[in-house]
Amino acid sequence: MTQSKIFSRIIGTGSYLPENVVTNEQLAQKLGQRGIETSDEWIVSRTGIHQRHQASPEETTSTLAIQAAQRALENAGVSAKDLDLIILATSTPDFIFPSTACLVQSALGNQGAATFDVQAVCSGFVYALTTADSFIRAGRAKNALVIGAEVFTRILDWNDRGTCVLFGDGAGAVVLQASDQPGIEAARLNADGSLNQILNVPGQVRDGAVTGDPFLRMDGQAVFKQAVSVLERSARDTLADAGLTTADLDWMIPHQANLRILAFLSKKLAMPMEQVIVTLDQHANTSAASVPLALDAARRDGRIKDGQRVLLQGVGGGFTWGSVVATMG
Ligand code: UT7
Repeated sequence: MTQSKIFSRIIGTGSYLPENVVTNEQLAQKLGQRGIETSDEWIVSRTGIHQRHQASPEETTSTLAIQAAQRALENAGVSAKDLDLIILATSTPDFIFPSTACLVQSALGNQGAATFDVQAVCSGFVYALTTADSFIRAGRAKNALVIGAEVFTRILDWNDRGTCVLFGDGAGAVVLQASDQPGIEAARLNADGSLNQILNVPGQVRDGAVTGDPFLRMDGQAVFKQAVSVLERSARDTLADAGLTTADLDWMIPHQANLRILAFLSKKLAMPMEQVIVTLDQHANTSAASVPLALDAARRDGRIKDGQRVLLQGVGGGFTWGSVVATMG
């Protein structure tokens, strides 16, 4: 007897942003009071970012993730009790352990699902989604919740204008379900650990204190150059794996770090900017949350429809990167 193939489909999305919005003007004023010079004009022209959301002191990665997860489950029409896999991508976990995913599982009222965090920085959501897809294709899960959630404003050095204007907080989630139809058509994950120094938070917890530097550090130009090169190659390779080209795509959602990176990809891959989802102007760079936040925003405003094909791409610290091609719904 031949067994039918199992695929995974994205059947629901959700997201959550903290209420507090900080505009470039407000940030420039706050930094100015500390003698750090920046401006709305510099931030917009170099990055495309206009504002970011910042978590309140009471909020953590898990509290943002729980909201996004509940919205995704509601959107999918799936009960938390029916989840058999929960993966959460973050570099700003609530604790060293247990995993933030376990805190979310408990709040959702699920018991028994395989539950863990993935740490691949801004590529985290694409890594988590690909992992969940692999579980489902192997027959090890039927209903998976995949979350990207971060409170990156907690690890920023507000004296470093080269990084502190770039990031924000938020969470996005998807529900992935087993199906006899694809869904996720191809996925590729890559890393080059020799580049670990161009984007990192090099502090360690040791003997009851943080030793070393606990803030995000980035060689912006080196990251920019790597990002454009690997994202272009990863897009082409992943589409080729699925027997597709960019002409077969309805939408692209690259990691939301810099509008100039998105414009470069649009040109190189011949995807008009009208088909590239952009939320970084409103959310700034939310690391692992950026791709699911953008996906949910574009589904809820009616741009991305069920049956349409989307390319999701992450890139960031590690150095890590990856792409997923999926038909929605
Ligand atoms: O999430 C992971 C992926 N991350 C990324 O993809 C980020 C990739 N990198 C970038 O997006 C860009 O490299 C940045 C936005 C970080 C920086 O843009 P840039 O055009 O590469 O600027 P730069 O670092 O070369 O700096 C140009 C100038 C410098 O001044 P001088 O040396 O030319 O006098 C900086 O000191 O801009 C200055 N500068 C600022 N000025 C005003 C740097 N940050 C600021 C600021 N406000 N916030």
